[in-house]
Amino acid sequence: MIHCDGLVKIYKTSDLEVFALQGLDLTVETGELMAIIGNSGSGKSTLLNMLGGLDRPTAGHLTVDGKDMLKMKEAELVRYKRESVGFVWQNNARNLIPYLTALENVELPILLTGRRRRLRALELLEAVGLAHRARNKLHQLSGGEQQRVAIAIALANQPRLLLADEPTGSVDSRMAEQILDLFRELNRQLNLTIVIVTHDPLLAKKVDRVVAIRDGKISSEMLRRKSYDEELRELEAGLAQEGTPSHVEYAILDKAGRLQVPADYLQAIGIKDTNKVKLELGDAKIVLTPPDEGA
Ligand SMILES: Nc1ncnc2c1ncn2[C@@H]1O[C@H](COP(=O)(O)OP(=O)(O)OP(=O)(O)O)[C@@H](O)[C@H]1O
Ligand SMILES: [Mg+2]
Repeated sequence: MIHCDGLVKIYKTSDLEVFALQGLDLTVETGELMAIIGNSGSGKSTLLNMLGGLDRPTAGHLTVDGKDMLKMKEAELVRYKRESVGFVWQNNARNLIPYLTALENVELPILLTGRRRRLRALELLEAVGLAHRARNKLHQLSGGEQQRVAIAIALANQPRLLLADEPTGSVDSRMAEQILDLFRELNRQLNLTIVIVTHDPLLAKKVDRVVAIRDGKISSEMLRRKSYDEELRELEAGLAQEGTPSHVEYAILDKAGRLQVPADYLQAIGIKDTNKVKLELGDAKIVLTPPDEGA
């Protein structure tokens, strides 16, 4: 569904350039539900905006659903945004109109008319578990319910890819859990590919794959040992082992063989005031050690 190769985004303002993405490589399969984490300013929203066609990459390669996002013409991009991709933002003011009902909000983006539009909107509200609140005005809904209306809207035109930027940023943890359950269900039932940007490590732990961005590049990737469903089954059967971490973390090698070593690892082996490390091939291992005295 998504293939980024050496993706670069530079924001130019009058007096400075910000390198928001610095050669990012990422592949996401069709039907995947995955999360992207990273510090503030690491480039998460920038990446999502490129994926959603809201902004263009500066350089590199990006294909989404078979479309080349750097070569796409303006009209194709408009069609792509309308038909292929759904967006959910943290701040649902960006998705929703407060003085309309939940139903009217969902009807707006649907490219149908009359009764069919109403039926489709109701169907979508049902899919997000909100049919019973359809006639309520937005301000009568809780933050989490509003976020579910936003998800219904994002699904309105049957996108193949759903992008969510901090979708649970403004709701409590119970509501965050429900929203994630909804994503998981949509992923399973519609085979919808879902990319979630989140700060919430607990939420990230509930998906099978978490990719961490640092300074505009993928720095590490956590893969679940067992699928979430398998883990739930084991929990229910009382087979789950306490204290086993749910994910295995891998560092990411780029094509040139470069690797980002976490700063706290370097500190732990006493690397400071130097840019040199000793790299040795051991027994099926590569070993990093501080440089010899005087190096
Ligand atoms: N439109 C813009 N013009 C100039 N610089 C920008 C623009 N948008 C983002 N940036 C810069 O690009 C970098 C990456 O920003 P981005 O919004 O992608 O970070 P983020 O990982 O989403 O952070 P957060 O977790 O705070 O949302 C930051 O240094 C930011 O200041
Ligand atoms: Mg952001």
